[in-house]
Amino acid sequence: MADLGRRFVAKIERDGGPLPPELAAAFASVPREAFVTDGFQRRDGTWALPGSAGFLESVYQDDVLVTKVAGGMPVSSSSQPSLMAIMLEALDVRPGQRVLEIGAGTGYNAALLRALGAEVTSVDVQEDVADRARAALERAGVDGVRVLAGDGYAGSPGETFARVIVTVGVSGLSPRWFEQVGDGLVVAPVEHAGTHPVLVARQVAAGDEERVVAQVVCSSGFMSAAGPLLARHPRSHPAPLAQSNGDRLDVVAPARWAGALEAARYRDLQYAAGVWHERATQMPLSGQSQNPLVLLDETGTGGAVILPDGSVLAGGEDPARYAREAKEVLDRWEATGRPSTGAWQIRMSLTDEPGTPIWYPAEWELRPRARSHGPS
Ligand SMILES: C[S@@+](CC[C@H](N)C(=O)[O-])C[C@H]1O[C@@H](n2cnc3c(N)ncnc32)[C@H](O)[C@@H]1O
Repeated sequence: MADLGRRFVAKIERDGGPLPPELAAAFASVPREAFVTDGFQRRDGTWALPGSAGFLESVYQDDVLVTKVAGGMPVSSSSQPSLMAIMLEALDVRPGQRVLEIGAGTGYNAALLRALGAEVTSVDVQEDVADRARAALERAGVDGVRVLAGDGYAGSPGETFARVIVTVGVSGLSPRWFEQVGDGLVVAPVEHAGTHPVLVARQVAAGDEERVVAQVVCSSGFMSAAGPLLARHPRSHPAPLAQSNGDRLDVVAPARWAGALEAARYRDLQYAAGVWHERATQMPLSGQSQNPLVLLDETGTGGAVILPDGSVLAGGEDPARYAREAKEVLDRWEATGRPSTGAWQIRMSLTDEPGTPIWYPAEWELRPRARSHGPS
């Protein structure tokens, strides 16, 4: 285990950057295989079971392990370790703190939180998943973690926590979490322009009113939550397209930059496009390794695609309008110094959904001196 653990930490650091010592120790010591004893789905669709060739090797890759599939779609998993590491670091958890996790999944992230010294309550909406997480934690000899079955929107009523971590994609944050965490941090992947940027959010008092403010920590591609945490809201973007409509698009603007933006800078552009354009989302396009940014028209079949080299393709019922709007997004991103995702200060608003409102990203401001990465 010691050698496996060291190599695992090296892989996580290669993909996600250096880990603080306590987090490296947690990844090196918690046996991930104890949380996937029913196996996981390989990328080719086949199922990897304990004892099958290369099982342990696959468990200790920096990769997501899909542990439950329903209707052909993943519905539970152990997330990518380097992403978990970034989220755990952003959570800034201290020994002895009570942490609420939404999305118990395999129980592995809860075990890592426990290894960091937290007292953990983890909620999963799927009862069988919660049962399996409980059994896995017991198998791994982890105490100090409670797993509850239920919709994470409610948090854990009647309790208080120092931190909330959400490990499933949501469209907004539950006010119940802020009732339970006070002014403590909430780390959550919140939908924006077809992806789930991870936000670190907190409630702050502003005169007589409570506000929720947030910043982006990193990008992510989480599976989506069930229930009211996935409600649509006034700033919801269209869902990402599963299929390309690229054959109906024509090139309307040539490459703007000599080379393509690197992946992280392209995500910065995508994020900014979602701030400025309510129809920004993603769709697959042949020849593109990363799903491109699209400003989708109201019919959902046309609009404009902005590629990583700044070229624009457009089609559908009003290509001229969407081509113009794509150019405006590009011009604005350059005029503001190519802001990174982390440069945005986000203010959230509460929906007026009776009984189950959510805080959703509603207003954005560029933080002074944190604006850009410069040309790349
Ligand atoms: C990516 S997995 C969580 C990974 C987990 N933290 C781990 O370490 O294995 C997402 C989980 O969120 C759960 N989920 C989806 N919607 C939920 C909701 N509304 N409340 C609580 N859990 C939810 C799913 O059942 C799934 O098990």
